[in-house]
Amino acid sequence: MPAPTKPLLRALAGEAVWPPPLWLMRQAGRYLPEYRAVRAGVKDFVALCTTPELAAEVTLQPIRRYRFDASILFSDILILPWALGHGLEFKEGEGPVLPKLRDAAGLAALSAARVPEKVAPVMETVRRVRAGLANEGFDRTALIGFAGAPFTVACYMVEGGGSRDFAATRAMAYADPGLFGGLMDMLTEATIVYLSAQVEAGAEVLMLFDSWAGVLSPSLFRTHVVAPATEIVSALKRRHPGVPIIGFPRLAGPMVAEYAATGVNAIGMDTSMDLTRAAGLVPAEIALQGNLDPMALVAGGTALSSEAERILQAMKGRPFIFNLGHGIVPQTPPEHVAALVEQVRAA
Ligand code: CP3
Repeated sequence: MPAPTKPLLRALAGEAVWPPPLWLMRQAGRYLPEYRAVRAGVKDFVALCTTPELAAEVTLQPIRRYRFDASILFSDILILPWALGHGLEFKEGEGPVLPKLRDAAGLAALSAARVPEKVAPVMETVRRVRAGLANEGFDRTALIGFAGAPFTVACYMVEGGGSRDFAATRAMAYADPGLFGGLMDMLTEATIVYLSAQVEAGAEVLMLFDSWAGVLSPSLFRTHVVAPATEIVSALKRRHPGVPIIGFPRLAGPMVAEYAATGVNAIGMDTSMDLTRAAGLVPAEIALQGNLDPMALVAGGTALSSEAERILQAMKGRPFIFNLGHGIVPQTPPEHVAALVEQVRAA
């Protein structure tokens, strides 16, 4: 395989690229007026995710403004449970609403057989974004495909939406390991199929979002975060040797040391992680990604520039990808993003 030239791919191959490649989680979204304009024209969020022309357009919007080093497929982690036949609605001001999966009948109602057909529009979006990046001359920008990690997706399916502590999910993992394990196995298999199809459609990098990994005890973290990620990474690398994978076990704290053994090429750090300490926990050939506080980006000015500078200083000389510690929030002024891009590019 020829050596990669895109900065993101070089960092994922273990090179300490400087200035570091830069992109932002949730970089396509409501902080951009051009996103809100497209969003206003569709009846619901699932329709936006499953209309390739519109999903490809909003994927490219932040690249046109900021020329980020990565574009990330516009979709959602809850599209996979939706494709498995679980209901999904996004309610204004409330976030996702799903049926609550609490028993064997709920699990039996899911069907992996329908997934390829239901996610076909997502694959068409991937093809369109790859073509769009090439046509518009964004030759340093790599395309990231993604899925939710099984535990985080299971959280939303069991609770029926977001939650402060995902208590019902954690209780089920202890009280009914057969049922919870069955759900985790189904999601693990479906995630492999889904991510593999994204690579075949043109995704150059994959990312696994485990936003709620940090609510688990160490033993359950090993069973429901590390083990499925290891299985997903090894299956994908068998099918697509060389595809780089980024894991994001949010709020994992010192458990990132164990997560590093999953075979991922990079680990996303949440805002709470001290990067110097993280560098001591994760082998130097695995890139770190993160971890600017999204609220520093809202604040802007010297608060933003000094936080960004601290991150740059801590990570210089190590494979690193500049990002936020969690998704960008809707109230972020787009000009603060421009200032951050300028600062990181001048590092
Ligand atoms: O990063 C990107 O630009 C790509 C698209 C993307 C979205 N969601 C679009 C989205 C990605 C990678 C996600 C991941 C995602 N979705 C996660 C993991 C990362 C994280 O933030 O922890 C999770 C937990 C979800 C589930 C989800 N989707 C929630 C809880 C919500 C509601 C909260 C909110 O911000 O509205 C969503 C909706 C969602 N997903 C929006 C976008 C742009 C907003 C919906 C809208 O525009 O109406």
